[in-house]
Amino acid sequence: MPSRILPIALAACLTSTALRAELSGDDYLGGGAMQDATERARVQAVIDAERQREAERAETLEHERAREKARREAERAAEAARHPQGEVLTKTHCGTCHAPESLMAARHTGLGWTLTIARMRWLNGARIPPEDAGRIRAHLARTQAADPARAIVEYGLAALPALLPVAWALRRSAATDRSPRKLGT
Ligand code: HEC
Repeated sequence: MPSRILPIALAACLTSTALRAELSGDDYLGGGAMQDATERARVQAVIDAERQREAERAETLEHERAREKARREAERAAEAARHPQGEVLTKTHCGTCHAPESLMAARHTGLGWTLTIARMRWLNGARIPPEDAGRIRAHLARTQAADPARAIVEYGLAALPALLPVAWALRRSAATDRSPRKLGT
């Protein structure tokens, strides 16, 4: 019995080896070069497609950015239209009574402009909404600031009401310092 199994097993073994050899021969010989070329072409195609997709993605991103920029600019323009800037506000609100040249010649500190605009509103009947007055004040304080000499005068005058009671108190204390001595003699 074993004498019959042995050759069969041997034959089966050889056949399978031959088959395997055949298969591996197909892989490495014969069509190998052609398969290499098609494989390379396939990989190249995949790479090209990926590159194309990447370029398209970049383009969409570029478009997206341009659209976002345009949207932001439009928003800013709308915001500027809703809140006109100081220069425009000064022309519309102060130009009703003042020639631009005379207004441009005026110089004040921030405090001076606050008081001037307040005077225009309360005494001279200028009708200016408070938020616009604030913007006009900021604009004028920046573009038409006082020179140092004028600044000293304006802040000095503003400080005067505060300094007067101090001066008076100092005088008083000096007088009471002297009075006991006067009484003593
Ligand atoms: C309704 C009219 C009217 C409007 C509007 C008006 N003013 Fe006057 N302004 C006057 C009159 C009247 C005087 C002179 C009397 C005085 O000084 O208060 C004057 C004087 C001035 C002077 C000279 C005196 C100083 O303090 O230097 C300045 C500067 C001035 N205005 C700035 C402004 C500005 C800035 C605005 C806008 C925010 C404005 N005015 C809006 C009527 C106006």
